[in-house]
Amino acid sequence: MFSFNGPTVTEIAPDVYRIGVYAPASELQFNFFLVRDDQPLLFTTGFRATFPVLREAVARVIDPSRIRWVGFSHFESDECGALNLWLEAAPHAEPVCSFVGAAVNVNDFASRPPKAMADGEVLATGRYRFRFCSTAQIPHGWDAGLLFEETQKTLLCSDLFHQTGDVEPLTESGLSDRVRAALSRMQGGPLANYIPYNARTEVILERLAALKPKTLAIMHGSSFTGDGERALRDLAVVMRETLGIGPQSESKNNR
Ligand SMILES: [Fe+2]
Ligand SMILES: [Fe+2]
Repeated sequence: MFSFNGPTVTEIAPDVYRIGVYAPASELQFNFFLVRDDQPLLFTTGFRATFPVLREAVARVIDPSRIRWVGFSHFESDECGALNLWLEAAPHAEPVCSFVGAAVNVNDFASRPPKAMADGEVLATGRYRFRFCSTAQIPHGWDAGLLFEETQKTLLCSDLFHQTGDVEPLTESGLSDRVRAALSRMQGGPLANYIPYNARTEVILERLAALKPKTLAIMHGSSFTGDGERALRDLAVVMRETLGIGPQSESKNNR
């Protein structure tokens, strides 16, 4: 398993805590988000290997056994590898995922049944309301979905806006250039085609932009505060230009 530095804990919006670790070997941050509320929600579980340090980091904010909801976007180790460890640590916790995620993976994988969310369905945790957005294949995976907290307008972005390096917890600028650099670099290596680009890509990103998020809670890299609508439209351009099928990417990626 990789080695990592951290964790760091940063409140990036009221009651939204970014818990971050950095893996120097891959020059990549992994960030997980805890929302403090009557029914606390953890969005993305981290790996089994990061569970002990993440639990310690959560304990700086709340008693980890109080976690009520454990959400994630899609079935991958950084998103939900430690799901069953969290369910063991928090006896009242339930997984939260898409309908497809539940049907295809989580009903079988998880030690307790998940809450399977339909597109547009809302999960109320007390003061906060999380609207589930089905985003199949964005960032990747048939089961992909995102949560949007409506009262503070925080979008839990998963892998969207992927950046590399040990960057600051929260930024107000420069996001687009960093994402372009990271995606371009990945396209030239063994991790190419990280995010599929298809006919629905821009439709989904436009739908997310219309939510007008004020905070983008990003798994890999800095979170963002500011005009989230514009950031998502800029992301659509960056993805089209770095991941879209064109003469350049065709020849480069199908070698
Ligand atoms: Fe992913
Ligand atoms: Fe990820």
